[in-house]
Amino acid sequence: MLDIVFAKPALPKSGALVLPIVEGAALAGLAGALDAEMNGGLTRALEAASFKGKKGQSVTLWAPAGGITKLVVLGLGSAADAEKLGGSMIPAISGETTCTVATDGLSAGQAASLAMGAALRFYRFDRYRTMEKAEDKPKLTKLTVASVDAAAAKAAFAPMKAVAEGVFIARDLVSEPANVLNPVEFAERCRELEKLGLGIEILGPKDMKKLGFGALLGVAQGSINEPRMVVMRWNGSGKKKADKPVCFIGKGVTFDTGGISIKPAGGMEDMKWDMAGAGTVTGLMAALAGRKAKVDAVGIIGLVENMPGDNAQRPGDVVTSASGQTIEVINTDAEGRLVLADVIHYAIEKFDPRFMVDLATLTGAIIIALGHEHSGLFTNDDELAARITAAGLATGEAAWRMPLGEAYDKQIKSDIADMKNVGGRPGGSITAAQFIQRFVQGRPWAHLDIAGVAWSSKDSATIPKGATAYGVRLLDRMVADHYEG
Ligand code: BES
Ligand code: MN
Ligand code: ZN
Repeated sequence: MLDIVFAKPALPKSGALVLPIVEGAALAGLAGALDAEMNGGLTRALEAASFKGKKGQSVTLWAPAGGITKLVVLGLGSAADAEKLGGSMIPAISGETTCTVATDGLSAGQAASLAMGAALRFYRFDRYRTMEKAEDKPKLTKLTVASVDAAAAKAAFAPMKAVAEGVFIARDLVSEPANVLNPVEFAERCRELEKLGLGIEILGPKDMKKLGFGALLGVAQGSINEPRMVVMRWNGSGKKKADKPVCFIGKGVTFDTGGISIKPAGGMEDMKWDMAGAGTVTGLMAALAGRKAKVDAVGIIGLVENMPGDNAQRPGDVVTSASGQTIEVINTDAEGRLVLADVIHYAIEKFDPRFMVDLATLTGAIIIALGHEHSGLFTNDDELAARITAAGLATGEAAWRMPLGEAYDKQIKSDIADMKNVGGRPGGSITAAQFIQRFVQGRPWAHLDIAGVAWSSKDSATIPKGATAYGVRLLDRMVADHYEG
């Protein structure tokens, strides 16, 4: 995590300086002070560059005055874009060791948002880059946010920082290769979150057998890596008798070969991300604990590896889920829903949750439907739909509601069991959601199909290329807005 400090506005004696300028605003505060020190040189430079403070505009001056090494003037557009600006300034300053960013024109909350954007963009997964030269690595070690109300900005940043830590936990987990992060290792990493005050319980195959997890265990049986289920509990309500918990459930397929219904070779490496739902739930629980959210929450993740092998399940096998419902496994590559079926049933029986939200890289079809801009939101509850949609817009993790219905449900009727695990090509994401709905016992439930948004192939303002941790911020926000206190 980038070291971020908040201080009263003062021109730095060394390092870089970033001046965000609201569109049309005159040079004031630190910008004005620097302009004076430069005898009007900043005004002249900005005029020469036709700089108006429009979003995305930028002007760079090297060694403008005093000991300042690099000055970056950035168009902020409006103050509401502070978080994005905080992120998009990072490439321009990561080559400097220290940097001050002036937030004169911003409120304390907006200054904190700017810091959050910077922290999120500065993330890097470089554990396996052993040959990288020092000059190719980011040098930035400290960012000073210069704010008139530094104390208030610092206080506003504290909970954001905890959420950023949760985002990084999720990004780290999703980025790890599958030879390192198998179900056993994933569970061990969850164990480390006990230090945040989370209660961690890990269940193995013997426990799952006792619980009748035939659907999850059927997926796991082709791999030498044993499955795990991790239950993470956060009791933050402070009530003697805990509230009915809110419950988050994650698909954690640490690698998805497809099993006997094996996937084609091209792009199969992407399937190390098939645990992103579980990664998000883990990061979310860390965020809630880290910021001491006043809520009782449970996160449950089902961890398996989907491999072909002499003990792998076959197309046509019938398994019995923990709910007692039987499933004809037509395609062993539709494994995520099998994992979720048992974990959801367990969540209901064990925790009687207030609602459940599951996250899963469930279908390629959702990428065809929504591309990489929205997750697919499926829910039996209009209030959850509204709250998730709103939190998604507020955090930039957009979700788009998709339909459910009887007619789609018919597509997963089986000739020999209670249901089959695929419904054919039409509406592939919807029939997958219908399958999951058969295990929720009519309770308030939402399913986020995150196959298109868990990973990004290009940098954006606050998310470097790679694992996005989609859902951590969205669900943290939904909890903060509706389920605390
Ligand atoms: N993990 C995949 C879904 C996926 C595909 C995620 C591409 C990210 C990118 C899932 O387990 C899967 O294989 N789904 C199948 C379902 C089909 C067999 C009904 C799919 O989408 O092809
Ligand atoms: Mn699959
Ligand atoms: Zn999968």
